[in-house]
Amino acid sequence: MPISALNNSVPASHQVQLDTSLRMLVIHWHESHVSYYPYVWLRDNDPAGFHPDTKERHFDLTSINLDDDIDAFSIEGNKITLSWQSEGYRAEFELTWLYDNQPGNHASDPAFSDTQLWRSELPSTEIPRTQADAILTKDSALLSWLRDTQAYGLSIVDGLADNVDAGTQIAKKVGFLRETNFGIEFEVKSKPKPNNLAYTSIALPLHTDLTNQELPPGYQFLHCLVNDADGGGSIFCDGFAVAEDLRRADVAAFDLLVNTLIPFRFHDDDYDIRARKAVINLDDEGRVNEICFNPHLASTLDLAPELMLAYYRAYQTFMKMTKSGDYKVSIMLTGGEMVVFDNRRVLHGRDAFDPQTGARYLQGCYVDRGEFESRLRVLSRS
Ligand code: OGA
Ligand code: ZN
Repeated sequence: MPISALNNSVPASHQVQLDTSLRMLVIHWHESHVSYYPYVWLRDNDPAGFHPDTKERHFDLTSINLDDDIDAFSIEGNKITLSWQSEGYRAEFELTWLYDNQPGNHASDPAFSDTQLWRSELPSTEIPRTQADAILTKDSALLSWLRDTQAYGLSIVDGLADNVDAGTQIAKKVGFLRETNFGIEFEVKSKPKPNNLAYTSIALPLHTDLTNQELPPGYQFLHCLVNDADGGGSIFCDGFAVAEDLRRADVAAFDLLVNTLIPFRFHDDDYDIRARKAVINLDDEGRVNEICFNPHLASTLDLAPELMLAYYRAYQTFMKMTKSGDYKVSIMLTGGEMVVFDNRRVLHGRDAFDPQTGARYLQGCYVDRGEFESRLRVLSRS
């Protein structure tokens, strides 16, 4: 039988009780809104268990009996004090903190806003566009640019200085750079003895970079220093839109791309980097949160023979969608522009160009999603 220990000093809209069967603190915030706080969770989140400076937990879970009960509480203003049976342990919480951290609800996170899916109808003039010096000089501009870049997975920064560091200077406003086997920064230009198709002048079909890495890089920054050759247009496609449309049109194909890991590999004289990835990856709520699609890094498929044809059908369907024209947005970058995109969402590619007719040079780098999201949270504080 639950004992009801309603406390008179609780503000009118709150009713607090201990449920001795469930072994939870129960708070009725208002008529239809009830939250349940397991005793053990309250013990683990006692504010006294966190270092006041580092804010990291120093409480040791192995030091307590998980079956210890709370047997009393008292409320004063916004504070609730809880007492545990054994050793009379006491912990004090703010009611507002309990309201903001209800078990079963994800805490709100300023790093995320609504995802805007886009297809080929997105005019290139509506791709979010921001001036470089605004990003460099105003935190408010940096914050709104980050929000737009995340929402669309794609943005253009304009007015960059004509030097190779101008793009990385912006990327470093977001977070530290992600180094890969191609360096901290990489030059995308046609080179002799290339170790990457990007370093040739041939067309690059839509892809995400470095799917052969354990963690493919998050945001990619490609600063165009010069793009005077014939050809060399850039193409982009929202992989989340393709995946969501595939889910609606052919759920069996979608499930195969979600549930089958395929091998990716990059190898040259110095490296042999391999990873197995699903082409479509979901978060814990079933939303698409990552695309790993790179036909030139896909290694020999090693699925069971009887699964092969069905997988190829699903994979080809996805590939045809990316090529269909329903999703593709084309941009001709000019010197001083930089494209920034979520490499784990937005597929990118380029048309072939003729290096005899002029120069084409993009300077690239990456910043992972974790750093990008951290910067969003920190800027959202003010
Ligand atoms: C790359 C790439 C695109 C381009 O470097 O990974 O895809 O426009 N480059 O050259
Ligand atoms: Zn690429």
